[in-house]
Amino acid sequence: MIPGFRITPWEVSGDTVDYNSLISLFELDVVTTEVRNLFQEVFGEEHYLISRGIFYAHRFLRLALLDLKYNRAKVYIFTGRGASGPMHIGHLIPVNLAKWMQERLGLHFFFQISDDEKFVLRPDLGLKQVRKYALGNALDFVALGFDEKRTHIIWDTQVASWLYPLTLKLAKRISLSELKNLVKIDDSWNVGVAFYSVVQSMPALMMEMELNEPYRALVPMAVDQDPLMRVSVLIADKMGLRKPGMIHSKFLLGLKGEPKMGTRYPESAIFLTDPPEVVREKIEGSACGPPRRCPALSYLRAFDPDDESFFSIWEVCFNDPEEGCKLAKKRAIEVLVPFIEEHQMRRKEMRDKVDEYLMKEPPIPLDKSLDPRD
Ligand code: TRP
Repeated sequence: MIPGFRITPWEVSGDTVDYNSLISLFELDVVTTEVRNLFQEVFGEEHYLISRGIFYAHRFLRLALLDLKYNRAKVYIFTGRGASGPMHIGHLIPVNLAKWMQERLGLHFFFQISDDEKFVLRPDLGLKQVRKYALGNALDFVALGFDEKRTHIIWDTQVASWLYPLTLKLAKRISLSELKNLVKIDDSWNVGVAFYSVVQSMPALMMEMELNEPYRALVPMAVDQDPLMRVSVLIADKMGLRKPGMIHSKFLLGLKGEPKMGTRYPESAIFLTDPPEVVREKIEGSACGPPRRCPALSYLRAFDPDDESFFSIWEVCFNDPEEGCKLAKKRAIEVLVPFIEEHQMRRKEMRDKVDEYLMKEPPIPLDKSLDPRD
């Protein structure tokens, strides 16, 4: 364990996150120039979340890219969100990359809302509460505007009638000792967390498992999710399925300079439901620091696609953190306040839409599955 910080799918703590040592700790691959070029070739363009190093590590990403390039398997996008409270802007990082990838190539996108996860994980949250959060999160998601025919919300407790039997097929293949090793739980944890660890792998494998055709999931996600998604790699190997290709992002800084904006620390976060004037005040009152430690600059890095503006502010930040911070805050307000305003308007209009995006049926009706591995 690296001193000073602890990062598991269940907990991120410490003063800084050493992203490089996470690469060796989790045994990830670096996003090299070669992978960037391949990505660019496949998607026709590079995304700034990659060129600016926010998505910085991967696992089997090349396989997914080569599948796309040579049409070897149908690639779909999968990511998710744990319903532990309202969504903040940090949660948009994987979703924004996913949305862009969907738009570029017309890929199907499965978005899991794991209210079950947060219920078993958090002693303080009731089932009713996490389901309420899940609905709010679903509304935020839908308000971002996706291709309705190709976007599917897997809200765990709401689609349990097919999610449960499909998860059983995976759960049967992994022992408790394998799981404990991978996801950092021990004998004192409740069995709900253990079972959930398999639930999150299901959408990553379900298409190929159910349809018995070559499919591969492409999973953009925050780096702390890696141990959980590795469960799907282990099970894929055992079942002869394609392993998901994953691409891992860094976190957004908290408003006070915390290494991760977190729902659990409301004073660290800009929520999608914060009134626009509160967003403005939060940014104005945020901490200052050199580029790696400046919250406002980290928001620009993730949300201002304008390279010229971003890099010129970065440079000022580097030479004169205080002056850079002023510029970064001003620009972050320009970028984020109108976004939040528009988002909240769309969110209101979408009230009745969530149901249309919900994946109510499994990839193939349960009794028609011809998979010999059943
Ligand atoms: N476990 C994630 C969280 O705590 C949420 C999540 C569910 C997820 N399914 C996912 C993340 C798939 C990445 C990929 O927020």
